[in-house]
Amino acid sequence: MTVVRVTASIPPTIAPTAASWDPDRGLEVLWNDGQAATYSPAWLRRYDYSLDAPDRRRSPVALWPAEAGEPPRFTHAEVVGSTEGQLAYLDAVREHGAAIVTDVPAEHHEVERFAQTIGHVREVAFERVHNVRHDPAGYNVAHTPGELKPHTDMPSYNWPPSVQLLHFLTNRATGGESTLVDGWAALAELRRDAPQHFDTLTRVPVPYQLFSDDEDTWAENPMVALDTDGEVRLFRFSNQLAQPLAAPFEQVEAFYDAYRHLGQIIDSGRYRATFTSRDGDLLTVHSHRVLHGRLTYDPTSGSRHLQDVYMEFDDLMARRRVLRGEHQPLAAQAQEDA
Ligand SMILES: [Fe+2]
Repeated sequence: MTVVRVTASIPPTIAPTAASWDPDRGLEVLWNDGQAATYSPAWLRRYDYSLDAPDRRRSPVALWPAEAGEPPRFTHAEVVGSTEGQLAYLDAVREHGAAIVTDVPAEHHEVERFAQTIGHVREVAFERVHNVRHDPAGYNVAHTPGELKPHTDMPSYNWPPSVQLLHFLTNRATGGESTLVDGWAALAELRRDAPQHFDTLTRVPVPYQLFSDDEDTWAENPMVALDTDGEVRLFRFSNQLAQPLAAPFEQVEAFYDAYRHLGQIIDSGRYRATFTSRDGDLLTVHSHRVLHGRLTYDPTSGSRHLQDVYMEFDDLMARRRVLRGEHQPLAAQAQEDA
């Protein structure tokens, strides 16, 4: 019979009284509360505490080189129609931070259907499916034909959406090339060349706001959030949504020095992919990492209409684990009949 104990019932003096190793069964331990347990070699390897184990478990991230090429491309048929194709696409998003799916049907809300085949739509204020096209009366800079500098969306949320899907229903206008920048690569350069600037951006909170007549989203956080290993986990970068700082005055000049330095790296063209998106292309961006933008275009030269939705990176990675068959828990005890 399996005994399930709650953590609070385990005495603080818990310790092994005897342990032995069997190459097939694994580590057999007798605990001083009378319990006996066997830990299989596979289980021990998976939950290894040694120093390099966290690195082996960490998602591999391939930072873009200074001369970045276009993101990897996949056809819609292979991503929605085959396990191998969908896994290759999810691997690309995981490692590269961006991927392009081509030949997506040019139908309204197809982007939402695509999202539902690989995870779930993350709804935010404004619209579930956002339309991006020229609107002379529009308020949002995205609805002008002007250049959209590389940015991340929705830093006005404490947890901004971590994946963005941008589906080009049509793109027949002259200009308007898509731009993507690996923000984590830009931050790696900043950290290497000016660690004090990098540190400032992890500490000084920046307010961001996006509002309409009916909605008002606002959040104040440092631009860079680190994980428990000190690696970048979440990057917020949006000149158009940034609000005046509300930080202690002695932090203000240091912040603007750091922000200017980072802005120069992002504007430099390093770590940037610039390419033409065609009808039926769907960009996937890990938006806690990769910035997106576009060059200026001529709205009189042809139509241009995108629809986009947000998702969560965790859901894409959950889908990947299920496709790889990794979602079954690993029993601690070796199966007797194995
Ligand atoms: Fe955007």
